[in-house]
Amino acid sequence: MWSSAIEDAIEKVRKNIDRFGGRFPHVSMNGTYQLNNNDDWTNGFWSGMLWLCYEYTQDESFRIAATHTVEDFRRRFAAKTVLDHHDIGFLYSLSSKAQWIIDKDESARQLTLQAADLLLKRWRTGGGYIQAWGPVGDAQEGGRIIIDCLLNLPLLYWAEQQTGDSLYRQVAVMQADKTKRYLVRGDDSSYHTFFFDQMTGEPIGGATHQGYTNGSTWTRGQAWGVYGFALSYRYTKDPLYLETSKRMARYFLEHLPQDHVAYWDFNAPVSADTYRDSSASAIVAAGLQELLELMDKEDPERAYFQQGLLQSMTSLVQNYSTIGEDAEGLLKHGSYHVRGDLSPDDFMIWGDYFYLEALLRLQKGSRGYWYER
Ligand code: GLY
Repeated sequence: MWSSAIEDAIEKVRKNIDRFGGRFPHVSMNGTYQLNNNDDWTNGFWSGMLWLCYEYTQDESFRIAATHTVEDFRRRFAAKTVLDHHDIGFLYSLSSKAQWIIDKDESARQLTLQAADLLLKRWRTGGGYIQAWGPVGDAQEGGRIIIDCLLNLPLLYWAEQQTGDSLYRQVAVMQADKTKRYLVRGDDSSYHTFFFDQMTGEPIGGATHQGYTNGSTWTRGQAWGVYGFALSYRYTKDPLYLETSKRMARYFLEHLPQDHVAYWDFNAPVSADTYRDSSASAIVAAGLQELLELMDKEDPERAYFQQGLLQSMTSLVQNYSTIGEDAEGLLKHGSYHVRGDLSPDDFMIWGDYFYLEALLRLQKGSRGYWYER
């Protein structure tokens, strides 16, 4: 089943290279991807998919398309086009860092290091956190961290490995610690975002942006936690991060509906019309594989996580994928921002990316581009 899902996905990506014509997919509306000129937080996922397809097929056409996206990311960096947010990590890990990992291209390495420096500038010394969104010191957004940032930290850990400058790692560790302390709750659920006093770092309180309520658990946020803490453990070997990833994964799996694919928020009232977020389950499917690789081989919970992974992946492939359909996306029923009425039931490019990463990992043991192999 995994091979045919991969083959189908690869042919869709191949078709999309022409369809997208050098522009970048974000989320779809009624099945058609909205394209942009590399000015959103999601643009790295398309680049990452092209690199994954190249690694799997060794087909030069994927490599050429992927390299073009990296050139675009170079232009974006020079022009500083919409880079005043922490998702610099998503953007440059899956584009230029991927090129460095695969091709050992020195200019791609340099671009990635510059991106890491830009991310570092979002560190708020007074407050003691990486500011998620908006211009640094912004009156409204200046005090906010969000759980998604965990996937941006590998850029900093990697930069420390490359340069030997411990500042990158110190910042990443302080951010991961703060995320664990303030965004992960005692019952292993999570806040999406948390506010601090910008000057003193005094905690103010948890809040949501894309979830159901401030105190609810937005499933994609929980998914970023599962994968993100596993990655922080990969780089630091701090057992607290491994434990946190496991706790969050357990919560995620225990709260899934019968078909093993998440609704958009664990606290949203469930009826026949409640939206799913297949992208959250795809992120967790990739994250669980990272977790399983890092866990002790004798850990009694291995079988539980393994079963959760296979149940989710089987359902994604059988009930949510576009196998056999002439579609642009790979994974149906993702939700970007349900309350904001932004693509509540469509393709999400990150859902497609993590679905492909998870499939390739299952089938070939290959990985994404969050760390050097
Ligand atoms: N990182 C933004 C999102 O997951 O929608």
